[in-house]
Amino acid sequence: MSGLKIALAKGDGIGPEIMDATIELFKHAGVMDAAAGGIEFVPVEMGASVFAKGNTRGMTDEAVKITEDSGILFKGPMETPKGGGGKSINVTARKMWNAYANFRVFKTLPGVETVYSKAGIHLDFSVVRENIEDTYGGVEHRLSNDMIQCKRLISAPGCDEVHRYAFHTAQKLGVKKIHCGHKANIMKMTDGLFLDRFKQAAKDFPEIETGDVIVDALCMNLVVKPQQYQMIVLPNLQGDIVSDLCAGLVGGLGFAPSANIGKHISIFEAVHGTAPDIAGKGVANPTSLVLSGLMMLRHLGLDHHAALIENALLATLESGIHTGDFGNKAKPSVGTKEFVSAIKDRLGSKPTTVKAAEVPAKSVAKLNRPEKPTGVQVIRTFKNIVTQVVGCDIYLDSPLSPSTLAEEMQRVCEDTPFRLSIISNRGTQVWPIGSVYTECVDYYRVRFELKDGVLAGSIGQSRTVALMDKVAEKFVVCSYELLRLFDGVRGYSLAQGQ
Ligand code: NAI
Repeated sequence: MSGLKIALAKGDGIGPEIMDATIELFKHAGVMDAAAGGIEFVPVEMGASVFAKGNTRGMTDEAVKITEDSGILFKGPMETPKGGGGKSINVTARKMWNAYANFRVFKTLPGVETVYSKAGIHLDFSVVRENIEDTYGGVEHRLSNDMIQCKRLISAPGCDEVHRYAFHTAQKLGVKKIHCGHKANIMKMTDGLFLDRFKQAAKDFPEIETGDVIVDALCMNLVVKPQQYQMIVLPNLQGDIVSDLCAGLVGGLGFAPSANIGKHISIFEAVHGTAPDIAGKGVANPTSLVLSGLMMLRHLGLDHHAALIENALLATLESGIHTGDFGNKAKPSVGTKEFVSAIKDRLGSKPTTVKAAEVPAKSVAKLNRPEKPTGVQVIRTFKNIVTQVVGCDIYLDSPLSPSTLAEEMQRVCEDTPFRLSIISNRGTQVWPIGSVYTECVDYYRVRFELKDGVLAGSIGQSRTVALMDKVAEKFVVCSYELLRLFDGVRGYSLAQGQ
């Protein structure tokens, strides 16, 4: 007996319809057969009904506890309330439970026509997307009348977790090559770190070939020749966009399963939303949720059941049975329940036009979880680095011209260890050298560096704060960044044109 409990949130809109159908299918396939070490689904309350009670997290305390105790959440799509304080449950859940890797598989399915299937090109690849950091931190500020900022945060431990997950998964699935998608040619430090940590992680997996590709070229390659990729690992925002592009290559979001993997808690869900336009009509396509459920079963070691259901699903699609959103329009479509009945009828069958999944011997559900942390953990990659202060960037809300601003700033730093080195606007140098063609807006970066003869590290941070204080006597200081060397290496970017 396994007795493994899985938190189950049906979701909103079409969520309950497709979830009920999926659970019915799983039950029929023996997934919940307690005597054979199956799993038990424990319903939890999340989504619109919880938001409606004024709970801005969208999940009850009990739902949080059950999910944390279980380590797995199987969820249907959930509505994000428009306006008010309610946040996206999907984003909250991933971040709160540190589900750091989003894993999506894109496979050509029989009966799902795409330009590639028509051309006889079979696709089978995956995307691993970093799921927590990047601009998804949602750290945004209005800095001046005309300027808004969103902070892009990329950490070394965050990169390490997602890259290690990608390599381990590739090893398990027999993937021979992983590409790292990035924009390190422009964002040399953030994307540069992501790429660098990828190369570092690769050293522990010499049997897996690696490559890297700039994300814009990646998008073109994916459209022109997607079969050249086996697995792609990407930072959060780029991964979000690229993975929807990939879903389009295999027939749309209705066929794209998704797993949000964390060390302690993982979330399995369909990629699509609540489809309010068809909710309650019994016509929704459950394929994406079924496929996400299969990822979950494999995560729990129920490979036998997963393969059995996958083959039955493929055989059903192959037979031309389809819901209204896909398939041969000349053939009448079926509803959600009929579609799942057709899969149930085919349990034990195998597809003939595509490769069937190998059905291994039955196994007992198990979940290997590390010990529950006793407190919040601080994870670190680099330790014992020597840092030295060499200046600061001060960000100002100002409508002045660069030359007038420069005169003011030079006066401010006269009796300090700092000299004004550059002024930039929207990242482009506008002083001491600039172009009349560079248009400025009302927000400047003013960079102060150590005067000649003042040694790096000879002054502490407090002198830069004192300088900022002086600037703030006359200007609106929006923010400040310390300029430091890390083991002698510059820890800040240069302005365009510098
Ligand atoms: P959507 O994915 O719900 O719908 C887009 C279109 O695809 C609609 O025409 C819909 O009928 C169709 N569609 C989606 N899933 C389908 C299925 N299984 N079978 C047949 N047709 C399907 O996207 P939309 O309209 O932008 O979002 C609606 C709501 O869903 C919003 O409140 C949004 O916040 C939420 N949402 C939730 C997600 C989640 O819980 N993971 C993901 C995306 C959106």
